[in-house]
Amino acid sequence: MAEIIGKNTIKLESVDSTNNYTSKLLADNKLNEGTVVLAGYQNAGRGQINNSWESEPGKNLLMSVLLYPDFLPVQHQFLLSKVVALGVRDLLACFVDEVKIKWPNDIYVGDKKIAGILIENSIMGYTIGSAIAGIGVNINQKSFLSNAPNPVSLFQLTGGFFNLDELFGMLCETIELWYGLLRSNKVDIVNEAYINALYRLGVESFYSDNDGEYLGVITGVNSIGQLLIRASNGKNKNYHFKEVAFL
Ligand code: BTN
Repeated sequence: MAEIIGKNTIKLESVDSTNNYTSKLLADNKLNEGTVVLAGYQNAGRGQINNSWESEPGKNLLMSVLLYPDFLPVQHQFLLSKVVALGVRDLLACFVDEVKIKWPNDIYVGDKKIAGILIENSIMGYTIGSAIAGIGVNINQKSFLSNAPNPVSLFQLTGGFFNLDELFGMLCETIELWYGLLRSNKVDIVNEAYINALYRLGVESFYSDNDGEYLGVITGVNSIGQLLIRASNGKNKNYHFKEVAFL
C-alpha cells in the first residue's frame, strides 16, 4: 500500500473539477503531501488548453494528487510530469500491452488516448512549492460522446469491468514509487524510463508546425521538456507544448 499518496483521500460523489476543488481547499487549509481528491463525476472536468474532460458518472478514475516538490528547481518541473505519467503508465501496463506516453504526458494505447494528466504548479521562489496533479483514467466507460482526443477505456480494450477502488490503490502506489525516485534524485532512472515509454520514439511519422507538415522522427525530450524531432530533410526541431501537432 502507498504510504503517502492517498493516505488522506477526500472522496466526492460529484464536483466541478478535482483540480479546482483541491486548489480551493489548499487556499484555506494546511493539507498533507499526498492528499488525494477523488471524484465519481466532474461537471466541469478540465483538460489541457481549456479543453474539457469527458467522463460518465462512476465509470472512471478522476483524481487530483497534491504534492510538495519543493526540492525541484522550476527549470526541472517537467520531471514531475514524467513521474506522474510513468505512474499512470505502470498502472495500465498491468492490464494491457503497448501503453505509451505521448509527449508531454498523455497516456496512449496504440493510437488512442486512455488517460490524461493536468498538472498545475505553484512556483515558490526558485522551486515548485505545490503541485496539483489531476489525473483522468478511462476505465469502465463503454462509449464516448466526443471523439476529440481519440478516447479509449480499459473496458473497450479488454471487454472486462474493473474495480475502481482497487485500481485507485494501485495508482497511488505506482505514482508514489516514481515520485519517490524523483525525490531521491534518481533522475537518470526517471529520464530513461520516460524515453523508453515515449510514443512514436524513433518511428517515422508526420507532424505539423508553423512551417507546415513534414515527415520526421522523435529523437527525445530535452531537459526543459521540449520535444525533439529530426525532420526528414535533416533539420533538428524542438518544441514547447502545442507548438507541434502529431498527424
Ligand atoms: C488532458 O487534457 O489530457 C488532461 C486531462 C486531465 C483530466 C483530469 S480528471 C481529474 C482532474 N480534474 C480535472 O478537472 N482535470 C483532471
